[in-house]
Amino acid sequence: MAVPLRVVRTVKALRATIAGFRSRKSSIALVPTMGALHDGHISLVRLARRLARRTVVSIFVNPAQFAPYEDFGRYPRTWKVDIAALAAEKTDLVFAPEVAELYPEGFATRIAPEGPALAGLEDKFRPHFFGGVATIVAKLLIAALPDIAIFGEKDYQQLLVIRRLVRDLALPIKIVGGRTVREKDGLALSSRNVYLTPDERKAAPILHRTLQESAAALVGRGSLAEIMAHGKMAIERAGFKIDYFEARHAETLVPIASPKEGPIRLLVAAKLGTTRLIDNLGVPLKRS
Ligand code: PAJ
Repeated sequence: MAVPLRVVRTVKALRATIAGFRSRKSSIALVPTMGALHDGHISLVRLARRLARRTVVSIFVNPAQFAPYEDFGRYPRTWKVDIAALAAEKTDLVFAPEVAELYPEGFATRIAPEGPALAGLEDKFRPHFFGGVATIVAKLLIAALPDIAIFGEKDYQQLLVIRRLVRDLALPIKIVGGRTVREKDGLALSSRNVYLTPDERKAAPILHRTLQESAAALVGRGSLAEIMAHGKMAIERAGFKIDYFEARHAETLVPIASPKEGPIRLLVAAKLGTTRLIDNLGVPLKRS
């Protein structure tokens, strides 16, 4: 019979269970999520299983990374389906705390990330966001103290913020980035895709297509400014309202004026109706 999935709801129980794994000399990988799991999350869980003996997944919709007007209340919560998917992946442990467990009465300490968290991308449109992410990720990492923690490239700026957080706080944890999983038509999987109307869903893949076309043009000889202006027009023509569509240095996120200043990462955030989508793509280095 299949072993039932272990779920703990307190930091104390998380630590005790992980101490048990450690006593058997197991390496541990943590995959933080907000639930509503899709194949993108599951790909990270599979990567965790390949890289460590024990896989721990956290499910916590973190109120601190949502602004009051954002979708915290209606963020999809699909507990039973999530648990079944994680059981099928042979996850060793799920950490699913209540809000009061991680933000008890009187909670008064926050992490204020700078560097990549102030690159003028997501932070410009969601100023509260990386403070909330950095605080919860630091709490999760310190609570679990895994050997590795896995995050998706889908949220590229977030991945860089977390790499810097771990480096700056000298946490003894390796951060691993997982590749973006996409629908067949290129749309990056996201828990928020369920908000798209059928017409919006049809238009949505233009984001990835434009990233690909722009990346290909940059590998060729085109001018960066022209390629980016052209890409912007294509995205707007499909009905999006763009927050940003930018070429940045892939490691520092500083703006880039010419392909020679690379490696380049193209990053986009845009709204279709009320749904905000983000995506990004690396520009392959030129073969000379
Ligand atoms: P969430 O949006 O649930 O994403 C959890 C992890 O899955 C993140 O590392 C994210 O980058 C990754 N992910 C999302 N879509 C993906 C896709 N299509 N392919 C591959 N990976 C994908 O990101 C968060 O939660 C939160 O900010 C969190 C880090 C858990 C802190 O609250």
